[in-house]
Amino acid sequence: MYLITGATGNVGTALVKLLHEQGYAVRALVRDPSRAERLPDGIDVAVGDLDDLDSLTAAASGVNGIFYMQVNPGTAPTENIVAAARAADVARIVALSSIGVRLEPVDHPIGADLAAREAVLRESGLEVTYLRPNAFMSNALWWLPMIAEGRVVDATDPGRYA
Ligand SMILES: NC(=O)c1ccc[n+]([C@@H]2O[C@H](COP(=O)([O-])OP(=O)(O)OC[C@H]3O[C@@H](n4cnc5c(N)ncnc54)[C@H](OP(=O)(O)O)[C@@H]3O)[C@@H](O)[C@H]2O)c1
Repeated sequence: MYLITGATGNVGTALVKLLHEQGYAVRALVRDPSRAERLPDGIDVAVGDLDDLDSLTAAASGVNGIFYMQVNPGTAPTENIVAAARAADVARIVALSSIGVRLEPVDHPIGADLAAREAVLRESGLEVTYLRPNAFMSNALWWLPMIAEGRVVDATDPGRYA
């Protein structure tokens, strides 16, 4: 059984579906159970919040590994997932980080925040895999209002990214 955080988001929804289709047992962490309706039938759903350690510990109970992601800044949710993993005796975490973590040496605030979260995981002693993707295609959905207005403001001027 794998616990998937962010299960109602872009990455988590796709991951839950993929794992379920491949026959893995999946438990989706959701804040609002009504949002779990978009997830496949037959998966386990745990109601919880990254800011609520007790709910995380309950959700992590009996799982073999955790897919971890957080959208809010700060290290408190990361500390909570580490504490929950320890309490539930889960040794392995796959953490969605970002290529932006490499901005940390130049003291970029986003890079520094991401690096601080990775440091919490690194110092936990748990087995952690760090995923550091580049920009998601789903970001293009942020352009919808601009497209509706007939123009897209492109910060790369004009440039390319993956
Ligand atoms: N966008 C990019 O280009 C990019 C690039 C590299 C890395 N990343 C990383 O990818 C992640 C974003 O992934 P995404 O696009 O899948 O995000 P998303 O679609 O915005 O989904 C966010 C998920 O997190 C859940 N969530 C938010 N706050 C929570 C809390 N306090 N407790 C429990 N769950 C909570 C949301 O649940 P609700 O349904 O309840 O809101 C939702 O399921 C970030 O960590 C970001 O650093 C993004």
